[in-house]
Amino acid sequence: MIHGLSSELERILAAGNSAPSGENCQPWRFVVRPGLSEIEIHLLPERDQSPYSWGQRASYLANGAAIENMAIAASSEGYRTEVRYFPREEDEWHVATLALAKDPTIKPDALASFIGTRVSNRKVYEKKPLAREERAAFLDAAANGYGEFALTEAPADVERLGRVGSTNEEVMLANHLLHSFFFSHVNWTEAEDREKKVGFYIKTLELPPPAEAMFKLFRHWTIMRIFNALGFNRLVAKQNAAVNAAASAMGALMLAETDPLDFVKAGRTIERLWLTATALGLSLQPLTGILFFKLKLDAGEHAVFSPVQQKRISDAYQDVARIFSADGKHIAFMVRLGRGAAPSAQAIRFPLAEVVDIPSK
Ligand SMILES: Cc1cc2nc3c(=O)[nH]c(=O)nc-3n(C[C@H](O)[C@H](O)[C@H](O)COP(=O)(O)O)c2cc1C
Repeated sequence: MIHGLSSELERILAAGNSAPSGENCQPWRFVVRPGLSEIEIHLLPERDQSPYSWGQRASYLANGAAIENMAIAASSEGYRTEVRYFPREEDEWHVATLALAKDPTIKPDALASFIGTRVSNRKVYEKKPLAREERAAFLDAAANGYGEFALTEAPADVERLGRVGSTNEEVMLANHLLHSFFFSHVNWTEAEDREKKVGFYIKTLELPPPAEAMFKLFRHWTIMRIFNALGFNRLVAKQNAAVNAAASAMGALMLAETDPLDFVKAGRTIERLWLTATALGLSLQPLTGILFFKLKLDAGEHAVFSPVQQKRISDAYQDVARIFSADGKHIAFMVRLGRGAAPSAQAIRFPLAEVVDIPSK
């Protein structure tokens, strides 16, 4: 129990805290002012130093997912939630204030019971097509959301998008800055993961044992460079492409604009889709590296990438845009979807007490 919080509010905040975030960086802080039935959600930019997260867009999306979780959890506690986005114009990190009001007519959202079991599943999935009801439920969840969502189950598209997704590893392993960032966010033991509470616990990456051993070597840039000269970054990408393509479908969420608010709202939709997949017994993994690199390139931040890498990113992005008929819209998020065995491990979270602020006034 957190002093000064009702157990209802605590459950709502815990739902927010279990949202997904890039590298599990958990870039949020919740403020609950005594006497007010309001939750403020603030983005913590210092938590997200990721070279992927151009303009904190990945973290705006993660905050959106946390908002959606809280609104869903609030409904099952009998609250209606009004979300006021960016309530203080001068504060770009105050993402939203959620005003909660008890409402006897509110229907509890059926997705509430899946908030605790939603997970990024990086296992190989079955390639079986989705059942008609699964496809319909998924598209229905997207239809009520923000942006435009498209799904493809065509084997050639799934295969191609699997390769697109793995272009991330090809580029990342051959780029000193991205390589250092990634490996500094891998936690090699459960104890390290429990201590750091952010980053990727190695078991959640689902690497086969020989690959896990190789990864331990690859964390040293001097060694990685030698292996890259032998084409290892491309080999890893090829193996990941096969894992990515072991899926029933690929989906993409497209946005007309790429402002912070667009990404917050996109985060809400992505979370609804993810919870819907969980409710259907389907597994989901985001494949977003190339999409965030593209935002960086579009903003003129080329310096991180070599000319060859810039071309690989642009070409890969073009494939996604073509397959999903993006028609000028930005592809904010891509996922693979299918039926996979339960993940080997789950990502940890900061304890709620460290995430919630209850100011005395
Ligand atoms: C904006 C964003 C981008 C992400 N991109 C990827 C990705 O490209 N590949 C991946 O495997 N997971 C990706 N994830 C999943 C996170 O790594 C994951 O949510 C986090 O590690 C916590 O784990 P959980 O989702 O199992 O709770 C992304 C999540 C978010 C919110």
